[in-house]
Amino acid sequence: MAFFRHRFFSLAAAALAVSLIACSDNSNGEKGFSVSDPFPQGFLWGTATAGFQVDMGCPSGPCTDTYSDWTQWATDAGIIEEELTNGDPLEDGPGHWELYETDFDLAVEKLKNNGYRMSIEWSRLFTTSTEGVDDHETLRAMADPEGLAHYHAVFEALQERGITPLVTLIHYSMPTWIHDGVACHKDPEGCENRGWLDGDRLIPEMAKYAGFAAREFGDKVDLWATLNEPYAVVLAGYAFPGPERTNPPGISILNGGDIEYLTRVILNMVEAHARMYDAIHAGDTVDADGDGVDTQVGLVPNLAPTEPKDPERELDVAAAADAHQLYNRFMLDPLILGELDEKRDDLGGRMDFVGINYYTTLTVSGMAPLFSELPLFTFLPDTTDLFAARPDGLYKVAMFVKETYDLPVYITENGTVNKPDEDRGAAFVVNHLTWLRKAIADGADVRGYFYWSLIDNYEWNHGFGMKFGAFAYDVETKERSLKKLGEVYGSIAGANRLLPAVVAEFADETAYR
Ligand code: FCB
Repeated sequence: MAFFRHRFFSLAAAALAVSLIACSDNSNGEKGFSVSDPFPQGFLWGTATAGFQVDMGCPSGPCTDTYSDWTQWATDAGIIEEELTNGDPLEDGPGHWELYETDFDLAVEKLKNNGYRMSIEWSRLFTTSTEGVDDHETLRAMADPEGLAHYHAVFEALQERGITPLVTLIHYSMPTWIHDGVACHKDPEGCENRGWLDGDRLIPEMAKYAGFAAREFGDKVDLWATLNEPYAVVLAGYAFPGPERTNPPGISILNGGDIEYLTRVILNMVEAHARMYDAIHAGDTVDADGDGVDTQVGLVPNLAPTEPKDPERELDVAAAADAHQLYNRFMLDPLILGELDEKRDDLGGRMDFVGINYYTTLTVSGMAPLFSELPLFTFLPDTTDLFAARPDGLYKVAMFVKETYDLPVYITENGTVNKPDEDRGAAFVVNHLTWLRKAIADGADVRGYFYWSLIDNYEWNHGFGMKFGAFAYDVETKERSLKKLGEVYGSIAGANRLLPAVVAEFADETAYR
């Protein structure tokens, strides 16, 4: 465990800052492959959202997610004063809770999409504790009727439009009855509802919720994701909450936190995924789309290639390898290969696909070991921009999953802040898709790409300022408008390929050619 702790500390340090080396090998070695080749038949072209980020701000009212730990976090005066969140009013959101049909029509009409990644918000289904209740009918009677009816209607609306849903069960947020992020921020030891710090309580309830959703909606959903970006929660919630990212309870290891929380939380996440996986497979036994498969369950890590700052420096090279092990493999090895400190059959084989969120590549420098006999290597990050575009990294993470785990992949998020009329956002998508097409040509089993995001939305502690959407919206009227990025993305999805004209117009030197 001590070894693991040291490694975790290094990882936490790595999250502080990372910078990029902008260089890529664009040589096209193999014969007969072109980035304009079609994507595989049935490839899912979609966008991704999370309920908390898009639902609020309805035309008829705020549509507040009253029981969410993130609502509590985003509106708490003390948390705003500490600058752990920016205080933007949640009712300025795009109101997807009411406008989902409009949005799905736009996704089909303008983006030519046949896939959609979204989350169910646990707090919108179960507003009070489900502890002590196990059978489906009693749980259904307890569920919030509006929430239950809403998700049924959403999945029907997707089905009617021929859009395949990929549904995330925990996209960071959870109900306040299981996680009181503000109380735990102030007193991690004394707070009552401790979320990830209390696995004995959280894991069975999370698995119960997952099993409930699978059974309830399984006739309309086949693709399930358990946890979104576990490490984002670990780092922004229990290690280094800061201007880049915070997540409740926003405990800092530099101030009141404990390095033991990090190990505890991550091990609880591994366990939670495995138990949710089992519950979803038990609950969803209906093949929603007639492809012969009832359900497929994956985790959605944010993967990042790791690079030595100086490839000639041995310590940097070792640091990059270590950072890769820790950042990219630590959860996947136990959940796919069953390898934790020992062989664990109750964890292994629990992923049918890997959902990859890809935003950037990490560059690290190694530091001399403090005591050479300890297996303690430390790496220092050079981060300045967690969203700096490195399209070649998308190829690397897809190939990493193929070569290491040989599992199917969905790119569950990839995106950039973009303005309505600029070419830069369109170039981002084109550049990344050239590399993704190359990964497919090299054997990666990539089955879909979900651009983050369908529409501008609430970017966690940054509020509404960071706009990733393919659509913008007017805060007053809620009217949607297609951005340049969306227009170009739609032309790619509609053709199921990067048309040569699109490549010629938008690809730059970071694209694969
Ligand atoms: C990812 C999150 C997603 C969104 C994008 C920009 O890390 O999963 O909710 O915030 O970043």
